Amino acid sequence: MISPLEMRVLDRNAQYFGISTLDLMEAAGKAVAEVARSEFGAAGKRVLVLCGTGNNGGDGLVAARHLSKEARVTVLLARSPDQFDTKEAQTNFERLRDVQILAGLDRSEEAIAEADLLIDALLGIGAEGSLREPFASLVRQVNGSGKPIVSVDVPSGFGTGLTVRPTVTVALQDGVAERKPGGVIAGSRRAKPRSTAVGRTFMRDGLITIIKRTMGGS
Ligand SMILES: NC(=O)c1ccc[n+]([C@@H]2O[C@H](COP(=O)([O-])OP(=O)(O)OC[C@H]3O[C@@H](n4cnc5c(N)ncnc54)[C@H](OP(=O)(O)O)[C@@H]3O)[C@@H](O)[C@H]2O)c1
Repeated sequence: MISPLEMRVLDRNAQYFGISTLDLMEAAGKAVAEVARSEFGAAGKRVLVLCGTGNNGGDGLVAARHLSKEARVTVLLARSPDQFDTKEAQTNFERLRDVQILAGLDRSEEAIAEADLLIDALLGIGAEGSLREPFASLVRQVNGSGKPIVSVDVPSGFGTGLTVRPTVTVALQDGVAERKPGGVIAGSRRAKPRSTAVGRTFMRDGLITIIKRTMGGS
């Protein structure tokens, strides 16, 4: 399995070869929105996008923007909006329109209960050590909800011992880079959660979207 450090190196190499973090974030978020639409009929439904303040949260914010054109979208930020780790995530937060914003745990249980679909963009490969609050509580609330869950890149908490149990996980690979022999991205750029079986893949805009369906997921 590729370690988070190796994945960060691969991401940095992708940037060197001309794919910016903002581009990757846009492609990932758009792919997540497409999966929400095609696999879960998100149009017209109440979609809750749970976002952290790192780049995984940024992917979720892009998905929220795309889905807001056709669904009733609420973004639940795990932390306050002045705590973004990256300028790309901040930029995508500022691009949101017509989306309800909640922060922290105050109304999280109610928001989860009201949603038809949950998008889990709390934490990606940046999570290390034991899961801290408010993420640990949010992961438990999401897992206890019985709602369909789409995780972005990896299920939040992956590698920490407490992990979201998604219905599907959407991950992206840079297809162009992957095809280069010994190139930027060899094999899977993203970790494969052990409980997850690979489902479908499709390619668009030079990026491969991989949908992994979790065994036992709702
Ligand atoms: N790299 C790229 O080019 C790129 C581009 C687009 C999207 N992405 C997405 O971004 C993800 C990686 O982004 P990232 O490096 O910003 O990391 P991340 O997965 O978004 O996680 C970063 C956040 O995790 C928190 N965190 C770390 N360990 C934790 C723990 N044990 N408990 C609670 N919180 C914890 C950090 O908080 P503290 O700072 O307080 O530790 C930080 O806010 C990828 O998985 C992918 O989904 C990456």
